Amino acid sequence: MDTQTTQASAAPPVIRREDYKAPLWQVPQIALEFDLDPAATLVKARLTVTRAGSHDRPLRLDGDGLTPRAVSVDGKALSAGDWRMDDGVLIIALPGDDHVVETEVEIVPASNTQLMGLYASGGLLCTQCEPEGFRRITFFPDRPDVLSRYDVTMRADKAAYPVLLANGDPIEQGDLADGRHRARWVDPFPKPSYLFAMVAGNLACNADSFTTMSGREVKLGIWVAENDLPRTGHAMKALKDSMAWDERTYGREYDLDVFNIVAVADFNFGAMENKGLNIFNSRYVLADPETATDPDYDAIESVVAHEYFHNWSGDRVTCRDWFQLSLKEGFTVYRDQSFSADMGSPAVKRIEDVRVLRAAQFQEDAGPLAHPIRPESYMEISNFYTATVYNKGAEVIRMMALLLGPERFRKGTDLYFARHDGQAVTCEDFVKAMEDGGDIDLSQFRLWYSQAGTPRVTVRPSYDPESGALTLAMRQTIPATPGQDVKQPMAIPVKFALFDPATGEKHDGEEVLLLTEAQMETRREGFAQAPVLSINRGFAAPVIIEAEQSAQDLAFLAAHDDDPFSRYEAMQQLMIHALLGSIAGGPLDSAAVIDSIRGTIADAALDRSFVAEAVRLPSEAYLGDQMQVVDPDAIHAARDALQREIGVALQKEWRAIHAECARNGFSLSADARAARKLRGVALNYIVASDAEDGPALAFDQFDRADNMTERQAALAILASGASGERAQALAAFYDRYAGNALVVDKWFQTQALSLHPDVVEMVEALGQHPDFTLSNPNRARALYAAFAANQWGFNSKDGKGYRMVADAIIALDKLNPQTAARLVPPLGRWRRFDDERGAMMKAELERIAATPNLSKDVLEQATKSLA
Ligand code: TRP
Ligand code: ZN
Repeated sequence: MDTQTTQASAAPPVIRREDYKAPLWQVPQIALEFDLDPAATLVKARLTVTRAGSHDRPLRLDGDGLTPRAVSVDGKALSAGDWRMDDGVLIIALPGDDHVVETEVEIVPASNTQLMGLYASGGLLCTQCEPEGFRRITFFPDRPDVLSRYDVTMRADKAAYPVLLANGDPIEQGDLADGRHRARWVDPFPKPSYLFAMVAGNLACNADSFTTMSGREVKLGIWVAENDLPRTGHAMKALKDSMAWDERTYGREYDLDVFNIVAVADFNFGAMENKGLNIFNSRYVLADPETATDPDYDAIESVVAHEYFHNWSGDRVTCRDWFQLSLKEGFTVYRDQSFSADMGSPAVKRIEDVRVLRAAQFQEDAGPLAHPIRPESYMEISNFYTATVYNKGAEVIRMMALLLGPERFRKGTDLYFARHDGQAVTCEDFVKAMEDGGDIDLSQFRLWYSQAGTPRVTVRPSYDPESGALTLAMRQTIPATPGQDVKQPMAIPVKFALFDPATGEKHDGEEVLLLTEAQMETRREGFAQAPVLSINRGFAAPVIIEAEQSAQDLAFLAAHDDDPFSRYEAMQQLMIHALLGSIAGGPLDSAAVIDSIRGTIADAALDRSFVAEAVRLPSEAYLGDQMQVVDPDAIHAARDALQREIGVALQKEWRAIHAECARNGFSLSADARAARKLRGVALNYIVASDAEDGPALAFDQFDRADNMTERQAALAILASGASGERAQALAAFYDRYAGNALVVDKWFQTQALSLHPDVVEMVEALGQHPDFTLSNPNRARALYAAFAANQWGFNSKDGKGYRMVADAIIALDKLNPQTAARLVPPLGRWRRFDDERGAMMKAELERIAATPNLSKDVLEQATKSLA
């Protein structure tokens, strides 16, 4: 077969933001009836449609894989000539302006491996509609600017599906003949189809309640398999904390009488904010000390908050079209980040968020898939649920909050919610509300929505001893990105402070300066000696700072900066300088790094959780990002050597910390969690020092731990070594948790991430393990997404890593295109590596792109990655 022609003829259309047109028909009301059965579910839909404006265009109802069994208008069955199908779309010419259109289809949840639409997971039937899954359930104008009131009736076998849930409020339920039963749910809030949800199954409920600020009682339910019920407490606490926080912080009250969360084992993403019925990947619901790590607990808290916050930023005010995705996602990520900061340590939360941004978003912004937070075009919108739209989008909101200050920012959000409640709006509407409510001009700031690429800000301080003045010369450049060769200067908040090197004190507080030109200079006076510059404090702007800072200045900031992010950053920079110097062929100059680490662990005033962050070396991948051409082997060797030197030089300190941080009895207190984190870092350095008893010490921690945080940390350390304890620990871990899917995922993931010379062969073997399956996205990601993030292993010189991931993409695409497409970007980094590696990566992308019958999800990612 000639694949070239096949693909050319099937080339999916490109959707452009500029082509947006308002809907020609609205659907104020929809009644749905489901006769649920995994093998054949009957879906009857009754749409009240109204013509929008005056035109003579027919009604177009999106469908994906649907065949109409019956179509009627105003109660009269249509004959075949009265409607037609065009590429899945059902087209009906309607004479008047108001009609009732009824359709009937049959769908097969059991064979829905894409996990979009109505599908089976374990014994459950559940839905995922965002972004375009509703059209796999019934014919409908499946776009976010069509808002409808939903009236949903579910019928199912009562023994197999005793619980029937949908959006809104439960209205009636009752038994039917043949062991079936029914439930009817009505959602009073008009919503777009992507927020529709429904779940049927045998579920147990953690039931609780929350009294809102106006005194209404809301029934809360977290629905899981009966034996998971003891693992739902943390999610419930997070939900109640989120509800109270959104009232306190944004004045947002919950609006229905019930709020339900359901956990499902097979899910393409983290979770989904369906109105009144959030559906979660079970990994973001279930936790107990034996099976979940402290980072798992944190992730549950933030994802529960994220989905809850969407009730206002997403559901009550939704997106006009999918190009506006960051309207809800960037804002909601900003909201969940602020919530988590308030619930724990703001300093550590900021460090973690910046680490994620740099690891995922900066890489995306620097590669072939770079796009603005408001993209201009797409082939498949599912490919745009990205770190750029989510995390850079959150940074853009954060900058507006900084420029406005807390009070005016709140005025802006109040105005946004008041002005647009019940509407489907744009990013422009959000910025306008910030301008009007916050009384600020954001004209130039809007470039953050349209220009892709991470700005580089060069800051050159020069001190004149004569006048005692410091001049800061600043320059911004924004690199070219696909489709955007030339960029305009952006409005970049530069947050800085100056320190007196003699006293360690800060001069005159900190300042926020708005860099609006390509080049700008600013002058400050009155310094007896050259001050030390602390720049981009708190990581106020999502940019790369290029400041020529001496090792001495960095060491000073690592010891004295009162902005915890900048203090952390100074240590990272010291480590990076040492490592890049040795990678470039110089000696490994570890002295300054070791001194700073020694000073940091000795500083009793510092939060131990911060200390754990600050003394850890940057990841191999982040080091790669600092190089012109990534050399995975050199990076690994240098980082390994520095880790060893730090381990040896501070052996006594690490041993002391490891002993002191041991606790009797488990607690989730901040102190206990910090101790566990720092203990893991200490153990890592002890083992890295090649101390003879290192592996035994790690195995002992692994074996005696009363919690997953310490057990998993020890396992990861052993997995990256060659000791006899490695195999022993992996086998013991598997035996202990066999059957617990979320923990078995950790077992796969820990091995895929391990820095072991044979990791490629190990991952290859794990792909054949009886517990491995591509049909569960968590399991597929635990092995292949983790491995693709393992810079040393994935980029092994023989190209085996590339081939393995490409094989996985091709195989997974047949089952689940969305999840397959998310594995493509690591291969798209081919320009970042040497010619041999680059050629092998490219060859794999070409092989993927040439695969017959590829989904548009993978096709878009593979072809763009090659361009
Ligand atoms: N709106 C969801 C969130 O961010 C994202 C999401 C859930 C999603 N499921 C999805 C995106 C499936 C694409 C496909 O909270
Ligand atoms: Zn979201």
